[in-house]
Amino acid sequence: MLAEILPPEVAAVEAFGDVLDVELFPEEEAALGRAVDKRRREFTTARACARAALAKLGLPPVPIVPGLRGAPQWPHDVVGSITHCIGYRAAAVARGHDIRTLGLDAEPDEGLPEGVVNRVAAADERAGLRALASATPGPCWDRLLFSAKESIYKAWFPLTRRWLGFEDTVITINPVNGTFTVRLLVPGPVLDGRSLTRFEGRWLVRDGLVLTAIAVPALPQLCHRLCLAWRPLPAQPATLMRVAGDGGHQAPTACTPPSTCTISPVVAGNQSDSSATHARIWQLSDG
Ligand SMILES: CC(C)(COP(=O)(O)OP(=O)(O)OC[C@H]1O[C@@H](n2cnc3c(N)ncnc32)[C@H](O)[C@@H]1OP(=O)(O)O)[C@@H](O)C(=O)NCCC(=O)NCCS
Repeated sequence: MLAEILPPEVAAVEAFGDVLDVELFPEEEAALGRAVDKRRREFTTARACARAALAKLGLPPVPIVPGLRGAPQWPHDVVGSITHCIGYRAAAVARGHDIRTLGLDAEPDEGLPEGVVNRVAAADERAGLRALASATPGPCWDRLLFSAKESIYKAWFPLTRRWLGFEDTVITINPVNGTFTVRLLVPGPVLDGRSLTRFEGRWLVRDGLVLTAIAVPALPQLCHRLCLAWRPLPAQPATLMRVAGDGGHQAPTACTPPSTCTISPVVAGNQSDSSATHARIWQLSDG
């Protein structure tokens, strides 16, 4: 289920029951301490998921220990996120050069307890929830909004190491295409030269569960993807203001900031083939 709302660069593993035949590292045992059985089970199963997800990236098992404010500590150059709720546990990881940060959250598809929605959603968001409920009955939209806020916190914290309150974001859920946007009401982190003011997420409601996920792709990957189809070689490396393909015929012209980066052409593919079938890959560099 989770893979449906994550980009292909992310390795995700989920479990619908407990997976307890995984050996915890001493550091993980120490972090668990004398935790109650429920906590031991969710922690252990999440570590089983995390190890399997890391293995999908070709990485060996390592201890995944809660660090500052509970954020899981991933191996160098790996980003990841963990969630657990009744009947569901999951972990997702990616290489840092593909994805800058990840946030996952799973919740039961049940209305929030009395009073909670007023605590987590601003008046505008509550009005949005009422509109969603009357136009598209079905999912518990208040729970979905809550889950989206938990996801953004998990994606936000590793980038900023700062608290983010429920009142610091405005979530807009798109009921049709399974996406949501997070608008920050506080200064966001600067990432790849971009000052982030909003995040895009995806959601899925199925089998009694609400899943939300945020994955922020690294900028070079965005540019590579967009530029791969572009064919003609320019005479000189150009200053890249914005990058966007039009199906491969126009020079890249649109890119999210940084607006000062430069690009230089690299020829890929079979160079002896004189027909215009080579992909020209643009390498992005700061400068
Ligand atoms: C930390 C928090 C987001 C966890 O969410 P949850 O729904 O309670 O629990 P989940 O099972 O989905 O997630 C637990 C996992 O979150 C991860 N997590 C905990 N703190 C984290 C942090 N500061 N940053 C990133 N991930 C964190 C951990 O991996 C944890 O699992 P583990 O202890 O087994 O490693 C939540 O308890 C919390 O503190 N929320 C308040 C902050 C917030 O949501 N602000 C709203 C911003 S709009």
